[in-house]
Formats: sequence, C-alpha cells, structure tokens
Amino acid sequence: MFGEAEAAFAEYVCAPQTRLVAKPPNLTFEQAAALPLAANTALMGLRDLTAGQHVLVNGASGGVGTFAVQIATAYGAEVTGVCSTRNVDLVRSLGAEHVVDYTHTDFTRESARYDVLLDLVGNHSLRELRRTLKPGGTLVLSGGGVSRGGSLIGPIALIVRGALIGKFARRHRVVVLEAVPSAANLRVLAELAETGKIVPAIDREYPLEQAPAAIGHLEVEHARAKIVLTV
Ligand SMILES: NC(=O)c1ccc[n+]([C@@H]2O[C@H](COP(=O)([O-])OP(=O)(O)OC[C@H]3O[C@@H](n4cnc5c(N)ncnc54)[C@H](OP(=O)(O)O)[C@@H]3O)[C@@H](O)[C@H]2O)c1
Repeated sequence: MFGEAEAAFAEYVCAPQTRLVAKPPNLTFEQAAALPLAANTALMGLRDLTAGQHVLVNGASGGVGTFAVQIATAYGAEVTGVCSTRNVDLVRSLGAEHVVDYTHTDFTRESARYDVLLDLVGNHSLRELRRTLKPGGTLVLSGGGVSRGGSLIGPIALIVRGALIGKFARRHRVVVLEAVPSAANLRVLAELAETGKIVPAIDREYPLEQAPAAIGHLEVEHARAKIVLTV
C-alpha cells in the first residue's frame, strides 16, 4: 500500500485506511513515497485542464512541478515549464514542449498566452500572472515561497489578493489551490504511474538517520524535484 500520512520522520506511522491504496507494482517504495502529497497537489491544480489546452507551470522543476508537467502531458495539454538553467533538460525530459529559463527570460513579458497557469512559486504579481492568460483562462495559485524581496509576505499577499479577486474576476478564473488528501485521486495517480505516464523524479535518497542532512539539502542547497528518506 502507499498513501499520505501526517508528516513524520519515523520507521512507523499511522495513516487512515481511506488515505491508502495499492502501490503500483512497477514503483519502488522510494518512488511510491515521493508521490502522494506532491502529485495530488499537482493533480488538483490541473483538474480543469482539457486536452489541447496550453498550460504553463511556474516552478516546473520542483516537487509539485515535476508531477504537474507529467500529468498535464498525460492529459494531452501543450506544456510550458519554467525553471532555472540547471533544470531545463529535466523539465523537457518530463514532457514539457517548451521550457522557459527564468534566469534569462521572464515569461510574463513574453507574448505567449495560456489557458491554465499553475503558479507554484509566487514570484510574480497577480497583474503579471493574469496578463499571460487567454481570455477565459484559469490562474491557479499555490503560494510558493519566493517573492522579489525574498520575504514570505509576497506569496501570502498574492494568495490573499488572488482569493479576493477570484470572487469578482470575469475575464479569467483565479483559484487558490487547496490540496486535500483523497483516495480517489491516489487511484488516478497510481494508474498514471502504473502506465508509465508519471514517474517520480527523485533528486536524492537519504537514510532516516540522515534526515537533518536531507532537510539541509532541501532548504540550503536548493534540491530539485523530490528527496526521499529510506528506512
Ligand atoms: N511538495 C509538496 O508535496 C507540496 C504539497 C502541497 C503544497 N505544496 C506547495 O506547492 C508549492 C511548490 O512546492 P514545491 O514543493 O514544488 O517547491 P520546490 O520543490 O521547492 O520547487 C520550487 C520551484 O520554484 C522554482 N524557483 C525557485 N526559486 C525561483 C525563483 N527565484 N524564480 C522562479 N522560480 C524559482 C524552482 O526552480 P529551480 O529549482 O529550477 O530553481 C522550482 O521549480 C509551494 O507553495 C508548496 O507550499 C507543495
């Protein structure tokens, strides 16, 4: 079985039966551990996407973004991923047709327009994000942790403004992503994994006793995709 437990670094954790489903046999336990929370977040962020639509994933090389690119590709969307130079090849290998390197190009200043923009970073204003949408397009905000000044206030303010504007916006939809654990979603993700449409991208694995080093790698060294603790 695999699924989502309350966050814990431990040999054993309790999880409600409703949050567990059968592990796809082709996934290792490490790959299965990397999947539920991040892939469910990506799936919920893309739930309105339909085949043929153009989606942009800001933060495409991160834990959620690497799944979002693969899920959108599996759903037949044309995918643009935004990441830094060192992750361009990774994001392309996950299925993105176009990759924007944010260290050289600001996607909000380009001419391309999107049906769905999944923002996992929070480093652009609402105005900048909305102007990259086609009329009737959807902006999905998840918060992120990066603002222009490096503070957390920027992303939080973006979410609060997004939630408010989402109530009145007519030209576009603005939604704040709220990922809730769901066995039904887990089954969808397990099927996508079993058919090879999503493969968890793992940067590094650490034994449980090296959890502090794993957190250091995540926070300080700017890990890509997912890191996994093994027991
Ligand atoms: N991971 C989860 O399971 C999970 C679950 C629920 C909600 N969330 C939420 O989803 C959001 C994304 O989480 P995550 O875990 O995917 O984050 P993450 O793994 O830290 O990924 C961050 C992404 O942001 C990009 N980035 C970093 N600095 C940037 C900058 N200055 N300008 C533009 N892009 C930049 C990174 O690109 P490079 O690495 O290429 O620089 C990477 O693609 C967060 O709001 C988080 O709270 C995550």
